[in-house]
Amino acid sequence: MSIAISQKKDVFLLNTKFTSYAFGIDDQGLVRHLYWGKRIDSVEDFEMPVLVEVSTNDPVFEITKEEFPVYGSLRYKEHCLKATFADGTREVVYRYCGYEVTETDEYEELIIRLQDTHYDFEMDLHYKVYAEYDLMERNVVVRNQSEAPVQIEKLHSGQFHIPYEDLNFSNVHGHWGAEHQRFVQKVSYGKIVIENRKGISSHNHNPYFLLDRDATENSGDVYFGALRLTGNFSGVIEQTQFGETLAQIGMNSHDFTLELKPGEEFEAPSILCGYSGTGFETMSHNLHHFAQKYLLREGYRPVLYNSWEATEFNVHSKEQIDLAKKAKEIGAELFVLDDGWFGERHGIDNGLGDWYVNESKFPNGLDELVDAVKAQGMLFGIWVEPEMVNPKAQLYQDHPDWIYHFETRTSDTSRGQYVLNMTKKEVQDFVYEMLDNLLTQHEIDYIKWDANRPISQTCLEKDIWYKHIRAIYDIVTGLKKKHPNVLFEACASGGGRIDYGILGIFDDFWTSDNTDAYDRLYIQDAYSYIYPIKAMRAWVTDCPNFLSQRVIPLKFRYHSAMMGTLGIGCNILKFTEEDIELSRQMIQQYKEIRPIVQEGDFYRLENTSENRYFLYEYLKGEEGLVFVFLPQSKVGHRGVTVRLRDLDPEAVYALQTEEGVITKSGSYLMNRGLDLQLKGDYASTIIRFAKENK
Ligand code: DGJ
Repeated sequence: MSIAISQKKDVFLLNTKFTSYAFGIDDQGLVRHLYWGKRIDSVEDFEMPVLVEVSTNDPVFEITKEEFPVYGSLRYKEHCLKATFADGTREVVYRYCGYEVTETDEYEELIIRLQDTHYDFEMDLHYKVYAEYDLMERNVVVRNQSEAPVQIEKLHSGQFHIPYEDLNFSNVHGHWGAEHQRFVQKVSYGKIVIENRKGISSHNHNPYFLLDRDATENSGDVYFGALRLTGNFSGVIEQTQFGETLAQIGMNSHDFTLELKPGEEFEAPSILCGYSGTGFETMSHNLHHFAQKYLLREGYRPVLYNSWEATEFNVHSKEQIDLAKKAKEIGAELFVLDDGWFGERHGIDNGLGDWYVNESKFPNGLDELVDAVKAQGMLFGIWVEPEMVNPKAQLYQDHPDWIYHFETRTSDTSRGQYVLNMTKKEVQDFVYEMLDNLLTQHEIDYIKWDANRPISQTCLEKDIWYKHIRAIYDIVTGLKKKHPNVLFEACASGGGRIDYGILGIFDDFWTSDNTDAYDRLYIQDAYSYIYPIKAMRAWVTDCPNFLSQRVIPLKFRYHSAMMGTLGIGCNILKFTEEDIELSRQMIQQYKEIRPIVQEGDFYRLENTSENRYFLYEYLKGEEGLVFVFLPQSKVGHRGVTVRLRDLDPEAVYALQTEEGVITKSGSYLMNRGLDLQLKGDYASTIIRFAKENK
C-alpha cells in the first residue's frame, strides 16, 4: 500500500518507491502539510506541530502549512481558492469532514473531503500516487451543493511547502522561434510569478515549477510540479519570512471567473509532481517514464516529411507529389501537407475557416496527392488551424458572431485572423464535423493542429480561458475515438502548446518553428527536463536557415534532429545527389536507432571541456547511443572526456565510433570516461554502443 493512515493522529502518508509526502488534520479541521522528501516508512512518527502566533501582526496562518489555503481569515500569503457566495461573502471557511481511498491498476488515490462551515460548498483534495514512477498527481474538485451560484475567482490546484530558503527556481523563457530557453534564478524574499495570459501555454514560460537546492544532474534535492493545462496558467513561488518556500500552480486568475451553478462541480487541472533526492536526471526519468506509460500512444513515431518550409502557401498537387516521391526516396514514412491547401489560402489573410480543397491547387482533388503518397507506401498527414477564421473567409461572412468579440469594440486580428469562440456549442460542432469529414473522406493518418495567435476580446464570459482549451481537448478526444489510428501533432506557432495537459490527447509536439540545428540544441536540452523525447518533433531544414541565416552542415542538422522524432522540412527537390545520399544514410541510421531514441532513457551528460560540447546519452536495455556536438571549437581545444551513465559496471561494452570499435568496461566508461575530440565547427557524431555477450 502506498497510502498509510494514522487514525489516531489523523495523519496521511503517501509513499512512492523513494519518496514520501505527508499531511494531517489539526484540531481546527485544517489540512496541514507535514513532509515532502526522501522516503519515511512509519506514519506514526509524524506529529502535528502546535503553532503559536508569532505576533499580533504575524498571525498564526503565516506559519500554518496548509495543503490548500483559501482566501479568508488572517491569511495574507498566496491562496489557492477565492470564492464569492451569492450574498457577497467572499471568504471560504472550511473544515475537514472525511477521506476516501480508492485503487486502480495504475495508482492509489486519497481524497480529502472539505466542507464550508456555512454554505453548501465542498472541496475535494485528490492525491493520486504512482508509486513505481515516484510521482503524485494532485488536484481539487470544487462543488456547489447550494441553491445559489458561487463565483470562483481564483483556483490553483494545490500548494507545496519546501522547508528551505534560497532555493534555485528554474523554468524556461522565450517567445516565438525561441521557445524553451532555460533559466535559473535564486529564490529570495518575495514572489516569483510565471504565467501565460494569451490562451496558450508555453511560448513565454512553461507551466511547471522546478526548485532545487544546488542540485546537479545526479545529486541534490529537486522539487517539481507540472500543470496539466494548455491555457492560461500561473505559478507562484514565495519565500516566506518564516523559513520555507511555497509553490503553487494552476489556472490563471487574470480576467477569470468561473460560475458554479447550483449542483455543479468543477475539476481543476491536475499537477504532476514529485521529489528527487538525486538531481534532475531522476526527475526527468520519472516524468518521461510516466508519459511513456500513461500518456504516449504505443508504437514508434514515423519519420516525417513536411513541405511547409519548401513551398509555404504555394502548394500545388503536382509539386507536392514530386516532393512526396523524393521524400520516399530518402526514406521518409509520413508526408505532411502543411498550410495553404484549402479555401482561398494564398497567404495569411484568407482561407481559414473555409475548409474545402482549393481547386486551382488541387484540380483533381486532394486524393490525387493522398493516393500518390499511399502508392509510395507512406502515411499521409495534413495541416489544419480549426480555431481560427480570416475576416475575408466565407465562414466569417456567414457567422460574424462566432468569433470572440465585445459588441461595442473592434476585434483585433493577429496574423490576419480572428479566434473562434470555441465555447459555443455550434462552433464546437462545426470544428468537429469539419475534421470528422476530412478524416472520413480522405485516408489521413496524421493531423497537424496549429493555432497561430493569442486570444483577445474574449466575450462577456470570464471562464473562456479554460473552456476554450477544454473544448479542444474534447473535440480531439472525440475524433480519436472515431478515428483511432490518426496521430495528432500539437502546434501553436511552433512550441506554444507544450504541456502535460495536451500530451496524451495529442501525440506529437511541434517543438519550435526555429529549425536552426544549433539553436535547437538549447531548445531540446531545456525541453528534455520535463517532456519526453518521443513527443519532441525535430526537422532538418534548408540553409541558410530562414530565421538565423546560419549555414550548418547537413550532417550536423541531421544529428540535431535525430535527437527527437525525426522530420525533414527541406526543399528536397533542390537536393544534390550528395544531399540525397547523406539523407538516405542518416534516415536509415535513424530507423535503426529509433527504438533507443524514442523509448530509451535520456541523459544530459556533463561537459568536461572548456569548449561547449553538447553530450547526450540514450540507453535502452543493453544498447545505447551517445550524441556529441561541438558547434564551435575554440583556440587551444583539447577535447572532452565523456562519462556515461547507468551502465552495468561489470559488463563490457563495444562502442562503434567513426574511427572504429572501442571495447571498455561499464565501470571504465562511467568513471574514467571516454576521451573524444571533435575537430572544426559544427562537428557532430553519434556513437552506438552495446553490451557484449559474455
Ligand atoms: C506555424 C507552424 O509552426 C509552422 O510549422 C507552419 O505550420 C505554419 N504555422 C503554417 O502557417
